[in-house]
Amino acid sequence: MPEPVLGILTLYINEAKQLEEKAVYRRMIIEGNRMGLDVFVFTPMDVHPSKEQIHALVFDPKSGKWSRKWRSFPNMIYDRCRIQRSTRFQQLLRFRERYKHLLFLNRPLRNKWTIHQTFSQKSRFRQHMPETLLYNASADLHRMLKQSPVLYIKPANGTGGRGILRIERIKNSKGVFDIQGRRQDRRIIPPRKVSASRLDSIVRQWCIGGRFLVQQGIPLRLPGGRFHDYRMLVQKNGQGVWELTGMAARVGAARSVTSNLHGGGHAVRAETLLKDWLGSQDKTDKVMKTAEKLGLDAAAFLEESFGALCELALDLAIDREGKIYVLEVNPKPAREVFARSGDGNTYRKALVRPLEYALWLYNNKGAPASAKTTEE
Ligand SMILES: Nc1ncnc2c1ncn2[C@@H]1O[C@H](COP(=O)(O)OP(=O)(O)OP(=O)(O)O)[C@@H](O)[C@H]1O
Ligand SMILES: [Mg+2]
Repeated sequence: MPEPVLGILTLYINEAKQLEEKAVYRRMIIEGNRMGLDVFVFTPMDVHPSKEQIHALVFDPKSGKWSRKWRSFPNMIYDRCRIQRSTRFQQLLRFRERYKHLLFLNRPLRNKWTIHQTFSQKSRFRQHMPETLLYNASADLHRMLKQSPVLYIKPANGTGGRGILRIERIKNSKGVFDIQGRRQDRRIIPPRKVSASRLDSIVRQWCIGGRFLVQQGIPLRLPGGRFHDYRMLVQKNGQGVWELTGMAARVGAARSVTSNLHGGGHAVRAETLLKDWLGSQDKTDKVMKTAEKLGLDAAAFLEESFGALCELALDLAIDREGKIYVLEVNPKPAREVFARSGDGNTYRKALVRPLEYALWLYNNKGAPASAKTTEE
């Protein structure tokens, strides 16, 4: 019997046809090979316009070499494409539409605002959402600042900690605010003090040309002055069931209001940092349990709302009382946070699980209700 075939759908990041995660894909191909799953990599650009053939990137574990081969369409598709401003992305949208009848492990999620609104419909999740609104006018800002001394402004379609502004109302000083942030190119904006009217015009300019969220800031400053948060990864396993793969903490670069690794942050083990932060093992265990349950429920709920998912990373903020907030969810997560925190076991699990799930899906094709609904 021929082996089931999984196609990893990705996008070139430039004209030179470079890929962002080639080393990750190589590892997935090797692992797939061991478990009887034939894996190749392709982009919409590699699909023949009339023949149902793909000029795929294949890796041969024996020779350790990449090459191109014409292949038939795979049995399943694992979509790793992230948003980019290019014609390649437009091509991807056309590909997803044209081939929507194929079996995808995962379908795209929606922007941060839609996700926030979807979660907010359910009290189960609403309690874990920071207060958030879509920026419209300065009045929104000041209404939020009355309730919360710290706000974050972020693009509804942002990634990688870009275009994020932190605003803090300074205690006992009427109408003075501290602002700092990261521009679209991730450059750090060092802290400075501004008046209310200056703040209004800065935010107005910040939000030109896109939709931005105004969000309650969760206090995440560590005693050393750096900001932190947690990255939790939940994935479907080889039985088609959601399972926690792991959780790691990210500590931001000095003077950075974001903790993203690409912005100079570093990763540490979640339990270690959380225990220091909350002050006891007992509290840490409880919070970890609650977070796990939240992650699993959130993944199942989003899948029900938007179509098939095979994994979900949640950016979690946990305040000093142990209250958990969902800052953001990522359906196409990088896994390097686990390698970087020294948790090689979890890193490997994170790579292998989508493959185990793909095999399960292949053998139970009739089963996944979510895949069916998105195909209708
Ligand atoms: N409401 C908030 N309170 C405290 N810190 C926040 C808040 N929102 C964002 N941050 C900080 O900024 C970082 C980036 O924000 P967020 O995860 O929402 O967007 P992103 O990282 O740009 O998107 P992606 O994770 O898809 O790349 C967070 O990881 C966190 O460190
Ligand atoms: Mg994030």
